[in-house]
Amino acid sequence: MSALKDVADLTTDEADAEVTRLSSEIRKHDRAYYQNDAPKISDAAYDALRLRLIAIEDRFPLLVRPDSPTQKVGATPSGKFGEVRHARPMLSLGNAFNDEDVADFIGRVRRFLGLTEADDVQFTAEPKIDGLSASLRYEKGELVLGATRGDGGTGENITANLKTLNDIPHRLDGDAPDLLEVRGEVYMSHADFAALNARQREIGKPEYKNPRNAAAGSLRQIDPSITASRSLQFFAYAWGELSGPLAETQYESVQRLGALGFTINPEMIVTGKLETLLEAYRGIEKRRATLDYDIDGVVYKVDRLDYQARLGQVARAPRWAIAHKFPAERATTILNDIEIQVGRTGALTPVAKLEPVTVGGVVVSNATLHNEDEIARKDIRIGDTVVLQRAGDVIPQIVEVITSERPEGAQPFEPLKTCPCPLETPTAREFNERTGKMDAVRRCTGELACPFQKKEHLKHFSSRKAFDIEGLGEKQIEAFFEEGLVREPADIFTLAMRNREGEVQPPLQEREGWGETSVGNLFAAIEGRRTIGLARLLNALGIRHVGEGTARLLARAYTSWTAFKTAATAAAEDGEAREGLLGIDGVGETATDAIGRYFAEPHNLELVQRLEDQITIEDAEAVAADSPVAGKTIVFTGTLERVTRDEAKAKAQSLGAKVSGSVSAKTDILVAGPGAGSKLKKATELGVQTLTEDEWFELIGG
Ligand code: IVH
Repeated sequence: MSALKDVADLTTDEADAEVTRLSSEIRKHDRAYYQNDAPKISDAAYDALRLRLIAIEDRFPLLVRPDSPTQKVGATPSGKFGEVRHARPMLSLGNAFNDEDVADFIGRVRRFLGLTEADDVQFTAEPKIDGLSASLRYEKGELVLGATRGDGGTGENITANLKTLNDIPHRLDGDAPDLLEVRGEVYMSHADFAALNARQREIGKPEYKNPRNAAAGSLRQIDPSITASRSLQFFAYAWGELSGPLAETQYESVQRLGALGFTINPEMIVTGKLETLLEAYRGIEKRRATLDYDIDGVVYKVDRLDYQARLGQVARAPRWAIAHKFPAERATTILNDIEIQVGRTGALTPVAKLEPVTVGGVVVSNATLHNEDEIARKDIRIGDTVVLQRAGDVIPQIVEVITSERPEGAQPFEPLKTCPCPLETPTAREFNERTGKMDAVRRCTGELACPFQKKEHLKHFSSRKAFDIEGLGEKQIEAFFEEGLVREPADIFTLAMRNREGEVQPPLQEREGWGETSVGNLFAAIEGRRTIGLARLLNALGIRHVGEGTARLLARAYTSWTAFKTAATAAAEDGEAREGLLGIDGVGETATDAIGRYFAEPHNLELVQRLEDQITIEDAEAVAADSPVAGKTIVFTGTLERVTRDEAKAKAQSLGAKVSGSVSAKTDILVAGPGAGSKLKKATELGVQTLTEDEWFELIGG
């Protein structure tokens, strides 16, 4: 290698080129080390690459890319740990940002349970630890499995690493249920974090950004002795599968975990009053700085476990708990420019290019400006001094402008009338019939004719939560797309054949940055994804308002691609097909309309057909297929006396039923309470099975 220039002497262009080269080399070595267990260079040589990248990024902060290896702390040894399907999903939490949100939460709980003024509901309040959640499975008192949360449904098996934590017992005494999954948060204390970074500095390794990243990096080490040296800790606050209940309330259950030898947080309280919950929040916030670990809010949970069971969950968060977040950290900086990014759905998002500044321990140089109304409302102009806010891992936002520091002649932002893409398609704000207002978002009207949208669509298609094609990241899509090698999803699956048959010139394996091995790996990864699960496919299609969560709900409800496509194609015109979509818990009007529109567009149907010709779509598992009402369409009418309408609906959906608002030939069961009128009449005419509320409970077993 030729002698490297001193970092201090590099021009910006040279630095930019080096950042690209170093990042790609480091990534290559990371892959060799973590995925193939075959490092190609010595540790010292690897460290030298990283140190040079850090030095360049230090001098040129604007060149720090979000995907730089220096921004990723610790290894991501994907595929290195075995996968673990959680016996019960590991849920996330909804957020409350102010007192009113907390009052609303309590109101929702009370309404759902149908409680009267006289009924009391107790809630627990405890700190929300800013770490990583983990699940520990004990069978007959023996720790048999420890796993990360992963996507909530499937995590990674990190038993050996978790066993190194002092807070995690390997054996529980005889008092524990035969089967017990303990859940809680792994974290690193401030003292251990400071000591770890001091050690990293000494040995010339990059420092961790914050204790959470340090804990994550430490927990996912391949060698458990490294995890052991990192002094991680664990607070137990929840449970998964159990052979018998721990207690009747949240509070008592956590105390039992404490008695079984787990560390539990000492700050937990129980109360039936909103004011006391808010006092606990303010008290914990006040003590935040004196705690030896990071917290980012307070979690409130319904105390009675029978109430929790009735409340159940919506999407992936329980109805019975909420996280009351602390206000985000703030900093002041200069807005150097406003750039427009075109997203996959054509949304033009203004992005603030900022003078780099540290907020909450992380250097920030970009912030979203949302849309032009937001810029106008806050009167944000280029050159302004702005107040920036960043909460947790959320994208930083500009809160306000310090107008007293505005430079002379700073011009207000002018929205783009045409898309920045080469087609220069006109942009527009749509009229939203549902809200009766203009959408805040300006969009390129070119749809998939707009190359920016096409390209973003492909990036999404290949991304981790969609087809997850290793080696076909944003950069590769960008290059293949620009060259015309991959213009739509089906092209990904014909690439290997076209390359083999000489249509790709020069062939990929002869190109700079590629070789036989990496091309072989890429084609193998593509081949490996020719068979795809329904939920992933639905997410990958990039239908507006159909993200990962909705895709999963649709997949579970329809189970097969054919069933879904038939319903979706009919949805634009056929009221019953529309009802079918709307009957799925979590699928609303907006998503239903968007699905109808997508499948009414011949261009989309052709694109989907070409993709279908290349792949095999696996059926999804239906929810609770063994429940007597799975797959059935239920209508509730009249007054329900044992539960609220919301609760009845949620219960039916959790058993795999679809709940509809109107009776038709597709209705399987009508549950009719007192006062039922026209729906009951119609059901009788159509010969639909009709049940009283008691008969319904008997059918579903309680
Ligand atoms: S309860 C069923 N309690 O916050 C609800 N979560 O934003 C399960 N977390 O994934 C979570 N401290 O990793 C709960 N005291 C606490 C928590 C806590 C931290 C994390 C947890 C969860 C995330 C949701």
